Amino acid sequence: MYEERIKRSGLQSRITSAADAATHLRDGMIVASSGFTKAGDSKAVLKAFAAIAQDSPRKITLITGASLGHGTDGMLASAHALHKRSPFQVDPILRNSINNGEVLFNDQHLGESAELIHENILQPDIAIIEALMIEEDGSIVPTTSVGNTVAFATAAKKIIVEINISVPLTLHGVHDIFSAGIWPNRQIIPITNAGTRIGRTSIPIDPEKIIAIVITETTDSPAAINERDDKTRAIAGHLLQFFEHEVKKGRLTHQLRPLQSGIGKVANAVLEGFTEGSFHHLTMYSEVLQDSTFNLIDAGKMDFASASSITVSQDCYQRLMRNLEKYKPNIVLRPQDISNAAEVIRRLGVISINTAIEFDIYGNVNSTHIAGTRMMNGIGGSNDFARNAYLSIFVTQASSKAGAISHVVPMASHIDNSEHDVDIVVTDFGLADLRGLAPRERANVIISNCADPAYKEELKDYFLAACKKGGHTPHLLQEALSWHQRMEQQGSMKKENILQDI
Ligand code: COA
Repeated sequence: MYEERIKRSGLQSRITSAADAATHLRDGMIVASSGFTKAGDSKAVLKAFAAIAQDSPRKITLITGASLGHGTDGMLASAHALHKRSPFQVDPILRNSINNGEVLFNDQHLGESAELIHENILQPDIAIIEALMIEEDGSIVPTTSVGNTVAFATAAKKIIVEINISVPLTLHGVHDIFSAGIWPNRQIIPITNAGTRIGRTSIPIDPEKIIAIVITETTDSPAAINERDDKTRAIAGHLLQFFEHEVKKGRLTHQLRPLQSGIGKVANAVLEGFTEGSFHHLTMYSEVLQDSTFNLIDAGKMDFASASSITVSQDCYQRLMRNLEKYKPNIVLRPQDISNAAEVIRRLGVISINTAIEFDIYGNVNSTHIAGTRMMNGIGGSNDFARNAYLSIFVTQASSKAGAISHVVPMASHIDNSEHDVDIVVTDFGLADLRGLAPRERANVIISNCADPAYKEELKDYFLAACKKGGHTPHLLQEALSWHQRMEQQGSMKKENILQDI
């Protein structure tokens, strides 16, 4: 059985149940698992471990590529089975456990997380790897993500493989596995355009490390796709206008430069906007291939897309799997330390579009912490791209929750991407091009172009009062976070709410 999926002789005898395989995960272990933005994750063994931990308490430190699907993080958190989690998550139950202090969270740049493994700062005892198949030489062909699996497979003492038979074998060939090696002998990453292939199609491992093989047939969790609305259309419109302006200025052509689009409801909708613009022969050098990627390929707008995972809606997943031979020449999946490599992002001149929770009048971006304290998801790859991109763009709606939250604030309550790494900010009201501007110029253009009119006058008053006090980046420290305080106390950032209550 499964000869097509397990080609290495002698390994078939290691097929076992998820429950059996999960008994290898012991209290206190560091466990690494494949999975990146809900794609190519462990579908069975981690869940089986959560079930064991429910009855018999035990905790692990869990490292992945990025977020897991199917509520696995939530199940582990509910079973109190997590001591520490790294480098990214999106699960509401786990988020709660992180914010109440039960689970420690090491929120890490996705492009650098493999380095903790290479440097033995976090050495996995066991790696769980979802695979399409195992080759004759024992190497593993991943499924819909590569993530940190190369680093995990190299460093882990033992490996459990989950062969997912729901993923068609035609996916074989889509991966480009390359490692730049470790310091001091690190190699250059010779990618000169989004489509350059530099590696092999499977991950080399020592097959003796495989202690168990589990067969699964659960597909990836589908991505939740938010329909474009007036706000996201407006944001996309401002961006497309800006790109047209850059073409007129001669800084870009209609081909633009390789695009990166982050997670969040706005970024995917913005990318969809390219189906309507006059841009063509687009490419993508990103970390996640979303529905918009395949829509752009189908619309003849995008030639090639490179990432570390495919995270799409159910419809798009089925369309993709049915037509893999058609899409394969247009896509590649790479390890996340390659998809997010500073060297490559800088060389290619990537245009990076990520979502902010809020940004301040100087262009500092908070992507992770609600009210400066409560973790949302994590920094993900946003900073890998923003720091190194040709154009670093952050998008968000100007206000939300019926105007109770302004996403343009006097001072960001937490900073993930500093003003030095942010070139453009966009809301549904407009776009601020911050390139070459000093802090006082930035504040003027951000307030004028991006703030919701309901908050504009107060932002202007704040800025003018701060300027009177002086400073290179003027602030009134006693007032800088007052909007967040109002939000916590009154449920709205609006000043009149306080007045009404008094
Ligand atoms: N104060 C209070 N609550 C806030 C808030 C604020 N300033 N800003 C957002 N929120 C709340 C929203 O109201 C929403 O709550 P709800 O679920 O009850 O409606 C929640 O936080 C999420 O906000 P939303 O606007 O729906 O988020 P999103 O889906 O657009 O995602 C990020 C935005 C920033 C959370 C997301 O893009 C992210 O995690 N980014 C960091 C990682 C990243 O960029 N990775 C990509 C790199 S490739």
